[in-house]
Amino acid sequence: MPESSFTNQLVASAERLFGLLDRFSQARVLVVGDLTLDEFLTGQVERISREAPVLIIRHETTRQTPGGGANAVYNLAKLGAKVKVAGLVGKDSQGEVLRQIFEVAGIDTRAILIDPDRPTVTKTRIAGHARQSVTQQIVRVDRKSDDLPDSDVQLQLADEIRQQLDTVDAVVCSDYGDGVLTAPVIEAALSHPLTVVDAQKNLGRYRTAGVFTPNLPEAEQAVGYAIKNPQTLTKAGQDLLALTQAQQILITRGDEGMSLFDRSGAEHHIPAFNRTDVFDVTGAGDTVVAALTLSLCMGASFWEAAVLGNLAASIVVRQFGTATTSIDEMKTALQTLLEEFEGKGE
Ligand SMILES: Nc1ncnc2c1ncn2[C@@H]1O[C@H](COP(=O)(O)OP(=O)(O)OP(=O)(O)O)[C@@H](O)[C@H]1O
Ligand SMILES: [Mg+2]
Repeated sequence: MPESSFTNQLVASAERLFGLLDRFSQARVLVVGDLTLDEFLTGQVERISREAPVLIIRHETTRQTPGGGANAVYNLAKLGAKVKVAGLVGKDSQGEVLRQIFEVAGIDTRAILIDPDRPTVTKTRIAGHARQSVTQQIVRVDRKSDDLPDSDVQLQLADEIRQQLDTVDAVVCSDYGDGVLTAPVIEAALSHPLTVVDAQKNLGRYRTAGVFTPNLPEAEQAVGYAIKNPQTLTKAGQDLLALTQAQQILITRGDEGMSLFDRSGAEHHIPAFNRTDVFDVTGAGDTVVAALTLSLCMGASFWEAAVLGNLAASIVVRQFGTATTSIDEMKTALQTLLEEFEGKGE
């Protein structure tokens, strides 16, 4: 679709889009996900140690934020939705911190189980600065297990998910490959009629899910060839529909925006709305999933839902680290976008 017809369609849909944003807070969503705690420790570099040739940093700040699937959870909550989360944390302080962050945001954490055999997935970045220099990351320490959860834990989690299905409008599977999404868990999650899957690998495991949201590398990995021009993009969309049996596929394409494919053979492209104020794209995909899912819950068409996902992403890429946005920020951004387009004389 040429850009001008996209612009016309957006302008024509403005009222619907504002209406959908107003209803986000009515949506009830369960996220089944790999939950990560992101930690940022920073301080001033004081000297070189005498014990070993290493820097000594005087601790200044610790920041802890939800990462991986937990970022999708957090994004949904900050968009005003009623959110439940099902997943696993370890028997450790990181798990408690994550639960606490969720509870402060009003998220229902009852279906987060403790897996005593595996730590809470935690990524700790240690960064330092000299007296007057920028802060720079020095090392990252990851805590995680390569083992899958015990089959008892898997079944218990599947059970928790089944108990929640009637109470939500949609289920999101946020699969970062950390072991929460095992076969029984996926089967339970996909028993819901509206499912959105954001998975890094093995999309074929989610057959019967409604919507998939791979990014470009994930889409390429799933189809087994490079997406390098409009022809291979269209082919990948069709191949992904066949592979997953999904109703809809949304491929997020970084600064190229996103492309949508559905079973009727329709294909739409949405340009990135913000290509100039981009500081950190980490977690933008989680934000897309959040806004897309809430839109679908509220009866949006797939195109409308993708536009709102794209809009939400255009806001969070301005911020450092994983970030969230709000309904108010989205309304302002939509208004600005419409004014820009009207200014172009469309
Ligand atoms: N460099 C960029 N410039 C402008 N917009 C961007 C850029 N990168 C990402 N975006 C926006 O964010 C959306 C999702 O980005 P992307 O395709 O990188 O997702 P992702 O790789 O799944 O992200 P993550 O897994 O880190 O959450 C894009 O569709 C686009 O709207
Ligand atoms: Mg992603």
